[in-house]
Amino acid sequence: MQPGPGEKWFPNVQSRGSNRRNMKQPLRGAIVGYGFIAGQGHAPTYAKHMGNGRAVEITAIADICGARRQAAHEMFPLARVFQDHASLLAAEAGKLDFLDIATPPAHHAEIAHAALERGLHVLCEKPMATTAEDARAMLQHAREVRRVIFPCHNYKHAPVVKVVRSILNEEVIGPVHQVTMQTFRNTHAKGVKEWRPDWRRERVLSGGGIAMDHGSHTFYLAFDWMAAYPTAITAHASTADGHDTEDVFGCTLTFPTGVVSAHLSWTAGVRKVMYTLHGKKGAIRVEDEDVELAVLEAGPGVVAPGSPGKWRFEHRVAPSAWMDASHEGWFSSLFDEFRGALARSEYVGRDAMEACLCVELIERGYRSAAEGSRVLDLPDGTIDRMARPRAPRPLEAPGREVEDLV
Ligand SMILES: NC(=O)c1ccc[n+]([C@@H]2O[C@H](COP(=O)([O-])OP(=O)(O)OC[C@H]3O[C@@H](n4cnc5c(N)ncnc54)[C@H](O)[C@@H]3O)[C@@H](O)[C@H]2O)c1
Repeated sequence: MQPGPGEKWFPNVQSRGSNRRNMKQPLRGAIVGYGFIAGQGHAPTYAKHMGNGRAVEITAIADICGARRQAAHEMFPLARVFQDHASLLAAEAGKLDFLDIATPPAHHAEIAHAALERGLHVLCEKPMATTAEDARAMLQHAREVRRVIFPCHNYKHAPVVKVVRSILNEEVIGPVHQVTMQTFRNTHAKGVKEWRPDWRRERVLSGGGIAMDHGSHTFYLAFDWMAAYPTAITAHASTADGHDTEDVFGCTLTFPTGVVSAHLSWTAGVRKVMYTLHGKKGAIRVEDEDVELAVLEAGPGVVAPGSPGKWRFEHRVAPSAWMDASHEGWFSSLFDEFRGALARSEYVGRDAMEACLCVELIERGYRSAAEGSRVLDLPDGTIDRMARPRAPRPLEAPGREVEDLV
């Protein structure tokens, strides 16, 4: 659903002044969807903040599943617990600053609009939405009501990914012109057992299979490493018998700066990420927490006639707890960025636009796969504007303090 020409999203916004609060006060947040990622990935950071300097308080939680409401109560005994987001917002919106959305993707858009309409900032799990139209409408709504919308792009906060960024910042391999990205999983991720652990196999809840589940992580890392946004995609997908969503998704993205090829699988023999990044002067290989840097010291034919050249290899290890799917340790750094966006009143920042572009790519990837891997250009508009080469993102020290924030 898009607003018609000249129409605005939800012009009757309530609590418009609520983010004028002194940012030294704790942020008051609520969680909708207290499942695996909320309970294992987000809650520990919130609990840490609540106990130490009170940077954030979780004062309300909604979940449609009784057992998960009980789990939420046990973790946050002082928080008020609701059966759905509508009753939470009706009772609590005036006392909140932000809503953390951690339900399956099909509900993200509806819940985000309801929160924005009530004047709340939104922190939203990936993928931002299950269609590009919905994702664009969420960004548009956030702009209209001057509230932050921020995606949980937590892979950027993995220690090993920060090491890659620091090597790129050192410019030792030169500009990246080619990237391969492999995400191997031996099963689809499971949700909490008390609700529908296999909702990722139900398209109506998930919006798709591994591309919808993992594509965002692949694509936003690719944007950063290629220092650009893609202009075309070709993809293929396969689905094991009886399933509603794909197990395997592969795609090639064309960038103004080069090419990225990605392979994502829920039917691999191992759980692992493997990334390679290539520049003219060297390459970086990532395998979970291991990083190998190859730097070309002498070009072809220099070492010996006809030789391919000579590389110096360096190895680094950045423990990143990849086997723990909650990625709990990465959320604190992500939450600092969310608080930074609030402090700057950056309502629709780069991360939000990239989240929208990720959904656009997933959607186009599915279409390409359905049409025999036809190459599809990226459309005009937002994408066009974002397709300018990006300035490299400065390295952020893990655990940095955000100035002027609690
Ligand atoms: N960033 C990451 O690394 C990461 C990892 C896992 C999951 N996720 C994302 O987090 C979201 C949730 O995934 P999960 O694995 O935690 O799933 P889950 O099934 O464990 O949790 C979902 C919870 O939402 C509740 N719920 C469902 N519909 C609801 C609704 N309409 N209103 C309120 N509550 C509702 C369920 O009862 C359940 O408790 C998804 O968007 C997923 O992609 C992100």
